[in-house]
Amino acid sequence: MKRTLRLMLAGAVVALTASCSAPKSEIDRKVDDLLSKMTLREKVGQMNQLSGGAELAAVAAKGEMGSVLNCVDVKQLNAIQKAAVEESRLGIPVLISRDVIHGFRTIFPIPIGLAATFDPAIAEEGARISAVEATANGIRWTFSPMLDIARDPRWGRVAEGSGEDPYLDVQMGVAMVKGYQGEDLSDPASMAACIKHFVGYGAAEGGRDYNSTMISERSLRNTYFPAFKAAAEAGAATLMTSFNEIDGIPSTGNKWLLKDVLRDEWGWKGMVVTDWNSAGEMIAHGFSRDLKHTAEQAINAGVDMDMMSYGFIQYVEELVKEGKVSEKDIDNAVRNILKLKFELGLFENPYIDETASAKVDYAPEHLEAAKKAAVESAILLQNKGNVLPLDKAKTILVTGPLADAPYEQLGTWAFDGQPEHTVTPLTALRKEYNVIWEPGLKYSRDNDRSSFAKVRAAASRADAAVVFVGEEAILSGEAHSLSNLNLQGAQSELIAEVAKAGKPVVVVVMAGRPLTIERDLANCDAMLYSFHPGTMGGPALADLIKGKAVPSGKTPMTFLRDAGQAPFYYNHNNSGRPCHGTETLLNDIPIAAGQTSLGCTSYYLDSGYGPLFPFGYGLSYSTFEYGNPVLEKAEYGKDDVIKASVELRNTGKYEATEIVQLYVRDLVGSVVRPVKELKGFERVTLAPGDSKTVTFELPVSDLAFWNIDMEYVVEPGDFNLWIAGDSATGESVNFTIR
Ligand code: NOJ
Repeated sequence: MKRTLRLMLAGAVVALTASCSAPKSEIDRKVDDLLSKMTLREKVGQMNQLSGGAELAAVAAKGEMGSVLNCVDVKQLNAIQKAAVEESRLGIPVLISRDVIHGFRTIFPIPIGLAATFDPAIAEEGARISAVEATANGIRWTFSPMLDIARDPRWGRVAEGSGEDPYLDVQMGVAMVKGYQGEDLSDPASMAACIKHFVGYGAAEGGRDYNSTMISERSLRNTYFPAFKAAAEAGAATLMTSFNEIDGIPSTGNKWLLKDVLRDEWGWKGMVVTDWNSAGEMIAHGFSRDLKHTAEQAINAGVDMDMMSYGFIQYVEELVKEGKVSEKDIDNAVRNILKLKFELGLFENPYIDETASAKVDYAPEHLEAAKKAAVESAILLQNKGNVLPLDKAKTILVTGPLADAPYEQLGTWAFDGQPEHTVTPLTALRKEYNVIWEPGLKYSRDNDRSSFAKVRAAASRADAAVVFVGEEAILSGEAHSLSNLNLQGAQSELIAEVAKAGKPVVVVVMAGRPLTIERDLANCDAMLYSFHPGTMGGPALADLIKGKAVPSGKTPMTFLRDAGQAPFYYNHNNSGRPCHGTETLLNDIPIAAGQTSLGCTSYYLDSGYGPLFPFGYGLSYSTFEYGNPVLEKAEYGKDDVIKASVELRNTGKYEATEIVQLYVRDLVGSVVRPVKELKGFERVTLAPGDSKTVTFELPVSDLAFWNIDMEYVVEPGDFNLWIAGDSATGESVNFTIR
């Protein structure tokens, strides 16, 4: 039996320091003062968030709207604000919000692409730039970052998050919160972040958006909560509830989540908003009788602001009169809203300078950072015969529906990015090569093969062919689940046709999710997976293709051979019958075989034993050699820090960056533990022939998890540790926690 080491719930009490007895801050005093002057109607008005434009000025004038979303016309926004500030009784400014997800004007790679960089610094810089551009356009609140763990690429919203791993999710999520909010929320260039969707939204059954989830409390705590908790501790100003229900309880009506965990356990003091009509949708769930009931349940669960259900504004006064909602709860909600408005400095500075955006939109340094992010996010999945980089080719064929698709390469949720500012690969490659341009297909779902012969003939005339395939932006993101993850339309056939010319074929995939591209790998020499790379995707990819930059991205999600393998993720628990990789496959089964359980282990007969590419995978133009991991000592106590090192050598010909990853496995637990868990990573750049000792310092407390007694502890016992270039390779060393 293991002895349990109880750890302090580090950080769990963060914001509790500002307890009731603490002196009231200046802002708290202002909030109390304002609150004391408000009627119940005015309070409920603050809790109401509406989507629209100029027509909302009349609502603001009545003090019946606390926040507006989806308007980016600064003149209209100023008119709405003027109505709120100058015409409403108390002059409370409106909070202007928007989905600024991976850039405002300058669009960065979609979040799953950003996660492939394993570079929190570039994520933070991207979020900062988003804030600078969005605030210049009047937006002070963004509904980002999305922290939903996503392990099923059929779910369209994998595009918007950091993938399947809680540790990577924490690092990227915290970085984005810092970037959006800057040093101080009162800075006019700071934008309040909104961590979303709390919680479990990414676990929708079958990857069907909005669907039910069944997540145990332990799994919520070990896997789905960490990024929310870390971002809350990093000061995220707001949080959005999710559409889904967990075990029968919609998040928007889940008091345990919104009060017991978020407020009481984590001590978080920010503001909670619903997702779009997620309160109203509790009727369809069969959790609420009618709209009035949704308002009662959402407010009692701990929601502060209602996005677009109209339930609060219509029914709260009645609910208070009937004693179903307390005015104290309303006051608390309004306090959270007003506090944010004071923190953002909206009372002093409500209006937008209508000339500001012209000075910052698409600033050269913003474009440069977006290009860097796009370079870092591209993953080299295959490079047979080192055909990439195409540094010697003079004439190349450029083909495929994503080669010159300025709108599509921006990806999902890029509402304010202007396609005319996008630099496509075709444009960028023309600066490097003599380009023969044959689109082949007009868009990703196109099945018209009539120009394929022409494309193949053009390939024959070129030194190499580069085929840009993938998904149109609209095929991923919210409400865009797919059951088949092969390339759409005739894109695979286009690649196969180009291959027939016998020239080196490079495929670039611009998509919103990891697609099932196994058959396409067979028809090309090299493949770069760039997700939707944003405004500067073209120059970034041209640099990578030409060899002016070297790929360093790693897969932030497991890549599947077949959609039927989903969900498939590296950090799963073991079955009692783990697959050995030598078991019988479908075509090995004799005809009229007798009844048998074959290999008797956990795998699919028809799609092999493992995924196409594991989590953390990505090649370089260079090669890296890892030594075996070395530990300073073999035994540790609960307060120790584990020092683990590895010798990394660049054995190739290019200066290149490798993402060195640290994994551990807790061998025996009071509950089954994942077969591997990422616990650290570092981007290491080495010149050819150079080597470096890469050292990780892993506090033993980072090995804690929610155990059989639902306590957050490190359990003593034996562990394996790997330091490797992906989640599937490397030698392990053992250590023991006493
Ligand atoms: C619904 C989406 O789920 C959420 O992520 C988004 O922020 C809101 N709509 C507002 O557009």
